[in-house]
Amino acid sequence: MGRSSKDKRDIYYRLAKEEGWRARSAFKLLQLDQEFNLFTGVRRAVDLCAAPGSWSQVLSRKLRASEDKKGETRNEEVKEERNEEVKKEEERKEEVKIVAVDLQAMAPLPGVTQIQGDITKVSTAQEIVRHFSGQPADLVVCDGAPDVTGLHDVDEYIQAQLLLAALNITTHVLKPGGTFVAKIFRGKDVTLLYSQLRVFFSQVTCAKPRSSRNSSIEAFVVCLNYSPPEGYVPNMSNPLLDHSYDVDFNQLEGPNRIIVPFLACGDLSAYDSDQTYPLQLDASQEYRYTPPTQPPIEPPYQQACLLRRNNLLAKEDSLPLAQEDSLPLAHEDSLPLDKTLLSMHLCSPADPL
Ligand SMILES: C[S@@+](CC[C@H](N)C(=O)[O-])C[C@H]1O[C@@H](n2cnc3c(N)ncnc32)[C@H](O)[C@@H]1O
Repeated sequence: MGRSSKDKRDIYYRLAKEEGWRARSAFKLLQLDQEFNLFTGVRRAVDLCAAPGSWSQVLSRKLRASEDKKGETRNEEVKEERNEEVKKEEERKEEVKIVAVDLQAMAPLPGVTQIQGDITKVSTAQEIVRHFSGQPADLVVCDGAPDVTGLHDVDEYIQAQLLLAALNITTHVLKPGGTFVAKIFRGKDVTLLYSQLRVFFSQVTCAKPRSSRNSSIEAFVVCLNYSPPEGYVPNMSNPLLDHSYDVDFNQLEGPNRIIVPFLACGDLSAYDSDQTYPLQLDASQEYRYTPPTQPPIEPPYQQACLLRRNNLLAKEDSLPLAQEDSLPLAHEDSLPLDKTLLSMHLCSPADPL
């Protein structure tokens, strides 16, 4: 398979590289913003589950927008005015704070403070608040996803847990009236999640950006106007997902059942993420391969790549089982054989999401 084949199959993957985004997910947040104006008036934002960082890039570019305009002016008079503007914008930019959290390390981004941590931990919530000098955030986004197992029920359950962890941490850091956006899997128990979100937000919408494949059950909840119940005290030890809900929520029918509005967002003329496009998108411009914007900095398959480079990686068909123990390994803590074989298929350059 040629290195351009993924460019052909996945238009957003290709555009992400061409526009300098670290992952195709950037388009999901951009298309959600087109519909909901997520960034208006936002100074403090939190990006939960942020690696490799394309949502943080979007936040950084949108909230610190002035940076891109620098140096655009030519004429002296305009330059003077522009300088004033730039000064004001610089001051405003000073106020902008973006905190990105992920279990994994992430390459640095301008104006983004990184926390390598677990969003299910109260210490992470405390660290976020510390970075905002005690002030709450205007916006919390979460594109968190566990490693999928392929067992749909299990994946949906773990995803729901992650969303609830994100909601829990959000209750610690979001200002009243603030916005929360999070990835959700639209599985059979999704009604409970909506109900729990509705406890905290006056408006909850389920949105599907054009860049999110139709074939995927992924969607995003956009929760507006954070208004926790009176007297609610955020507490990370409260497990929100309580399975006694079934009778109360899932069994309701007709008008009693909570129907969350569903919105397909992104311009209808936007590319369809499930379609294959020719490499020559624009007849007047020749296709040129673009390498990924930011290769992973500590990928889990790093060691397998090292082994392969040194020709130390076992080949599946040429390896009698009895030889496994005598296989030379680069380090004491090298991956077990089954993992190196598996990783062999993962060694292509950065291919996140
Ligand atoms: C789909 S990726 C996020 C992509 C990101 N929004 C972007 O645009 O680059 C999901 C991320 O969730 C992170 N994650 C999963 N569970 C987590 C947890 N408990 N705490 C923090 N991050 C977590 C993973 O490490 C992974 O980087």
